[in-house]
Amino acid sequence: MDWGMENRMSQLIRPDGHCFFLPIDHGYFQGPTSSLEKPGKTIEPLLPFCDALFVTRGVLRSAVKPAGSKPIILRVSGGTSIVGKDLANEAITTSIEEIIRLNVSAVGVSIFVGSDYEHESLLNLADLVNHCEDYGIPVMAVTAVGKELEKRDAKYLGLCCRIAAELGARVVKTYWCEDFDQVTTGCPVPVVMAGGPKCETELEVFEFVHDGMQKGAIGVNLGRNVWQNPHPVAMAKALHSVIHENYTAREAFELFNNEKNDL
Ligand code: 5RP
Repeated sequence: MDWGMENRMSQLIRPDGHCFFLPIDHGYFQGPTSSLEKPGKTIEPLLPFCDALFVTRGVLRSAVKPAGSKPIILRVSGGTSIVGKDLANEAITTSIEEIIRLNVSAVGVSIFVGSDYEHESLLNLADLVNHCEDYGIPVMAVTAVGKELEKRDAKYLGLCCRIAAELGARVVKTYWCEDFDQVTTGCPVPVVMAGGPKCETELEVFEFVHDGMQKGAIGVNLGRNVWQNPHPVAMAKALHSVIHENYTAREAFELFNNEKNDL
């Protein structure tokens, strides 16, 4: 691996081999998402507990302080909305010059395997890898399922992750599912888990994150289950303890309960 690529990867993944990415990119197709109306305010107390931010250039420029910032994973695909025809019909939104100008640690692009736009989204990934590898910038592929959350099983997600890695993604983000080891075993690059819509209980979140880590994930890219929780700081601290301090789900839940009463 070239020095630039290795340096950027090491900004994202901590020396223990794990990572906690905090995504705040949801507005690129959802608009002013609940609890993310003012992203700068939302993230401020959470930054000490996460390792990188996943964000679009618009929110990066308007809401993230450049001095002393956390490593940035720039969301560079889009062009669709929740009120439009098809969420899968994305294109690359950001030039390589802009990616370099913003001095980001990585970029992220969605792929929609099995959708009407499978081919286009996979070529978006491949083209982005072609541009970014020249400059030592890692590409994170996001295995998106649009509105069809029932697609989230090990066979489908394993297929998506493997294709993303084959096309050159350096990291793949996917959903947790039962038998998650089948997903990680078939993927030759690091896998991080997304959260999805807010879970019923905090314990559920800690349980799937812990299970996924035991089964080969290196960490999470988890947003709504953190910043839509009524106690986002306690949630971020507890997740940090599962990812970086080997806490079990129960121990993290206990920490969450203690912290939420203290804050
Ligand atoms: C949205 C994304 C998000 O980064 C991803 O879904 C993770 O966030 P959450 O934990 O809220 O699902 O790619 O397009």
